[in-house]
Amino acid sequence: MPARETWATRLGFILAAVGSAVGLGNIWRFPFLTGEAGGAAFLVVYLLFVGVIGLPVLLVEFVIGRRSERNPVNAFERLGKPGWTFAGAIGALAGFIILSYYSVVGGWVLQYVIDSFTGAYFADPEGHFAATATGTNAVLFHALFMGLVAGIVALGIRNGLERAAKLMVPSVIVLLVILAGYGATLSDASEAYAYYLAPDFGEISANLFSIIPDAAGQAFFTLSLGMGVMITYASYLGEDRNLLTDGLTVVVIDTAIAFLAGLVVFPFLFAQNVDPGEGGAGTVFIGLADAFAGIPAGSLVGAVFYIMLAIAALTSAFSILEVIVSFLIDNFGVDRKTGTIAIAAVLFVLGIPTALDLTYLDAYDLLANNILLILGGLLLSLFVGWVYADGALDELNRGRGSDGAFAAFWIWTVRLVVPIVLVVTLALGVSGYIEFLNEAFF
Ligand code: TRP
Repeated sequence: MPARETWATRLGFILAAVGSAVGLGNIWRFPFLTGEAGGAAFLVVYLLFVGVIGLPVLLVEFVIGRRSERNPVNAFERLGKPGWTFAGAIGALAGFIILSYYSVVGGWVLQYVIDSFTGAYFADPEGHFAATATGTNAVLFHALFMGLVAGIVALGIRNGLERAAKLMVPSVIVLLVILAGYGATLSDASEAYAYYLAPDFGEISANLFSIIPDAAGQAFFTLSLGMGVMITYASYLGEDRNLLTDGLTVVVIDTAIAFLAGLVVFPFLFAQNVDPGEGGAGTVFIGLADAFAGIPAGSLVGAVFYIMLAIAALTSAFSILEVIVSFLIDNFGVDRKTGTIAIAAVLFVLGIPTALDLTYLDAYDLLANNILLILGGLLLSLFVGWVYADGALDELNRGRGSDGAFAAFWIWTVRLVVPIVLVVTLALGVSGYIEFLNEAFF
């Protein structure tokens, strides 16, 4: 077998991890969840969870990956605990489900890039979204998005993922800053900021039980946790690096970008009197399209927005595909190009139901995000906290100065706090899913 690939530079690794983290989750999912939960109250709880469970679990994945130098399915065997292989397998399964519908949404974004230039959504944003989201065009653009993702992954770690991330992540940041600047000039911007930034603590306590699972789930989703993306990316690290610094960098940049996305989305919505809590998954497509229709240079602003969204979605999507491809390479010595094309074809087929009927989007999204990812993260945390703690601590401290205080804090967070939060979230996720299935299919 050829030698396992590695990142060329530390910056490349960090940008690739940031690229995975920053995606539809930050720019599409975060604003509409915040809107549904009433604004700043959600932001506060979300920020709390990013610190309390996001960073610790990110480090759990980094530690497993760098120590084992394997994909999540094989990592446990390599660490001498083959009985835990199923935990990685759940992650890989979640990857199939997530990417199959993520690619459909990615296809919508590609359609909206074109539609911005032609102004196709200006007259009837709602009808336009309905026509975009399902049907033959949705299937075709799903294929196109999947093809782009596969093209980058087929090029490999250094020439594909690392290069693309170095180019794409800075572009996303620049474009978002420009859009936020434009948003600040719109009428009603100050009301939008108040809605987004001034938390009403009464509201938090009144809605705590719906805010907690959504905020915890979002903290996980936005950091690409629970399915082994970060295990896989850290497995290509090779030499000593300070995992804590890398993890903190990824968390801070990802959170800053989600925050920035809110500074873009809310002023645009307020300028057109669109209720940010109404649109759900359609917010970024219907509500914003409506907003772009009503502002000066809307066509150009819309194009910039959707191009930025497409780039962010691509860097996330290829991290998911990489998990599955690395499993094939590590296990069967399949060559990267063949493996990538085969898996992309399977994912394309899996995504077709979503591109034809939006019920499947929810069915896939809820199953993967509210159940499989949380379960995956729970198992990974239990493994590191209770089964592999010595090795994990040793690995966390490798490449750092010896500062045991953080490590001790981390391991106890992983042992106790993370499992408690995730078990509650999982229970709510399962009961919510049963309710959903009953309503949608029976
Ligand atoms: N974090 C990405 C986003 O916010 C989505 C994503 C990429 C993801 N890889 C993942 C989510 C792995 C969960 C697990 O859009």
